[in-house]
Amino acid sequence: MSEQTNPQSATTTATNTTIAKIGAHEGQSVTLHGWLYALRESGKLLFPIFRDGSGTIQGIVPKAAVPPETFETVRQLTQESSVIVTGKVRADKRAPGGYELDVEAIDVIQRVPEDDPFPITRKEHGVDFLMEHRHLWIRTPRQSAILRIRAEIIKAARDYLDDNGFTLTDPPILTPAACEGTSTLFPVDYFGDEAYLTQSGQLYIESTALALGKVYSFGPTFRAEKSKTRRHLTEFWMVEPEMAYANLDDLMALAENFISFIVDRVLTRRAADIAVIGRDVTKLQAIKAPFPRLRYEEAVRMLHEAYDQNLAPDLIQTRFEYGNDFGSPDETYLSSQFDRPLMVHRYPAAVKAFYMEPDPQDPNFALCVDVLAPEGYGEVIGGSQRVASYELLKKRIEDHNLPAEAFQWYLDLRRYGSVPHAGFGMGIERAVAWICGLEHVRETIPFARTLNRIYP
Ligand code: 4AD
Ligand code: MG
Repeated sequence: MSEQTNPQSATTTATNTTIAKIGAHEGQSVTLHGWLYALRESGKLLFPIFRDGSGTIQGIVPKAAVPPETFETVRQLTQESSVIVTGKVRADKRAPGGYELDVEAIDVIQRVPEDDPFPITRKEHGVDFLMEHRHLWIRTPRQSAILRIRAEIIKAARDYLDDNGFTLTDPPILTPAACEGTSTLFPVDYFGDEAYLTQSGQLYIESTALALGKVYSFGPTFRAEKSKTRRHLTEFWMVEPEMAYANLDDLMALAENFISFIVDRVLTRRAADIAVIGRDVTKLQAIKAPFPRLRYEEAVRMLHEAYDQNLAPDLIQTRFEYGNDFGSPDETYLSSQFDRPLMVHRYPAAVKAFYMEPDPQDPNFALCVDVLAPEGYGEVIGGSQRVASYELLKKRIEDHNLPAEAFQWYLDLRRYGSVPHAGFGMGIERAVAWICGLEHVRETIPFARTLNRIYP
């Protein structure tokens, strides 16, 4: 029958699968739905590399092994043409994913024309060009791998909290007041009133924690600071656990277990993607609770020592002024002294947020913690125990010149069954940048929003 000689008939008998799962089909014919990533020609052999969203695989097309039309179709393929390809899976130790595809048949869904080629080639492009073409850049193997790792980090964070008794409660994004300081608010017109995009779900999940015990939020948050550092986005995603009847020690224990779980998950489930981006896994394998803990004062002592003994002249160029918050170089120096995230606790209350509980041992310090990732990545988590007393919180709101009316509901949490409670926020993009070993947070999210960019 004619179908048997039709090269496309292989498509109907082969199993549909994905590149990530191709190992289960060794020796069989499979069909992949994807795109041409690259093509190399060597005499009577073609080596197309296909991608399908789950990974990449090299195909082999010997002229003698396929009908002439099939050979010619592959030979004419252009980068990012969409194709449905059928071939036999062959194990090959030298192949990056461990397998190659002996191509039997190919269906071209859309061929990208030569006169309007895919703009991102395998040559070097500048960052501005790549960001301008972010909608296409994400198709390249490294960027796709980062996005899959991001998804795994989010899933791991949620699984950890879901499995440890935390209830997901979603705070509003449109809010009437500041959480993290008035200078970094994005205003929006709310039917004639001024409202703001949320900086953090914290104040709201303090309320859901007092309702449900252990809760978390996961959602987009916004900061209008005009900062251009490699750690700042104007829109980023934050996961925030909050626990009733919990103190700073409980919070630090949660932070180290949470991070250890997430890193371990990425190592076990995303090994192939970690390999694609070339991340040193030994650095990640070291991330195991417990993490080192330093009081702010001890951290300052380390910075002074670094300056006085000129231990890190590139980073520490001035003597740190006691009482300040740490800057990026300070965090970089401190975290580079350890192979695990460093937990710095009890900062001076004056440099931290209004809602932080003072240390009863010395109220000049706050019961707070910043978790600094190693290898110079700096703060990935910020959190604290919260002010439990109605009088103190009311005074703090006044001292910080915050609008009293907007905080009445928040004060109510201290009027009716107030308890010690604590929580933290982890910025997903900071975590992805560190775990993937990236230069800049702009590659950790599909479409980064920064001071200079809101396109595409
Ligand atoms: O330290 P932050 O400002 O803390 C809070 O917002 C608390 N209300 C959280 C809480 O206790 N529930 O932010 C928390 C984390 C930081 O450690 C950092 O990882 C990330 O959010 N983050 C940013 N990530 C990217 N771009 C920015 N502009 C960020 N600002 C904070
Ligand atoms: Mg912070």
